Amino acid sequence: MRGRMSGWRKFEEGGDPRSLRDAFGSFATGVTVVTCRDADGTPHGLTANSFTSLSLDPPLLIVCLAKVTTSAGPLTESERFAVNVLRTEQRPASITFSTPAGDRFGKTRWEEGLGGAPLLTGSLAMFECARHAVHDGGDHWILVGRVERARFEEGPDPLLYFRGRYRRLHFDD
Ligand SMILES: Cc1cc2nc3c(=O)[nH]c(=O)nc-3n(C[C@H](O)[C@H](O)[C@H](O)COP(=O)(O)O)c2cc1C
Repeated sequence: MRGRMSGWRKFEEGGDPRSLRDAFGSFATGVTVVTCRDADGTPHGLTANSFTSLSLDPPLLIVCLAKVTTSAGPLTESERFAVNVLRTEQRPASITFSTPAGDRFGKTRWEEGLGGAPLLTGSLAMFECARHAVHDGGDHWILVGRVERARFEEGPDPLLYFRGRYRRLHFDD
């Protein structure tokens, strides 16, 4: 069996933030790319695994954006944004949208969604949102979106992220 069977790693408030980050990394997630288009028409987007479904009625979702990212400003100011849930084959897009250099949207196929927010071609699911609220969340903004439109494919496998590495599903039944 992989992994340590004993020997807890620990974090206490005021301690090494890396161990807290690693503790948070114990929670396996999917991977999304969150996008918008600013008033000048420039597209913005970043890789985010902080996506959470929030409410069915009204239909709400959450994404948390580090305040230091360049995308946080445009995404929290934009009336509309999109959340693209990535499939296994979209690992290159996840890397592109989490790496500083380069023209992210030039390297990825996409089409325009509501408010011009880019929808990445081949995504497992796409949520087109209106900005519902922005809350302060420490060193992150908590962006709440109201889902105006969503579409998803039932067949493909998701791209997963766990302990700082990309993963894929194991169970098939
Ligand atoms: C799998 C994965 C998940 C990430 N999740 C988030 C997240 O939820 N929120 C966030 O602000 N950054 C997250 N990041 C980091 C950003 O994608 C990264 O800092 C990006 O370069 C920010 O781009 P920007 O500064 O151009 O906006 C994640 C990175 C990876 C690889």
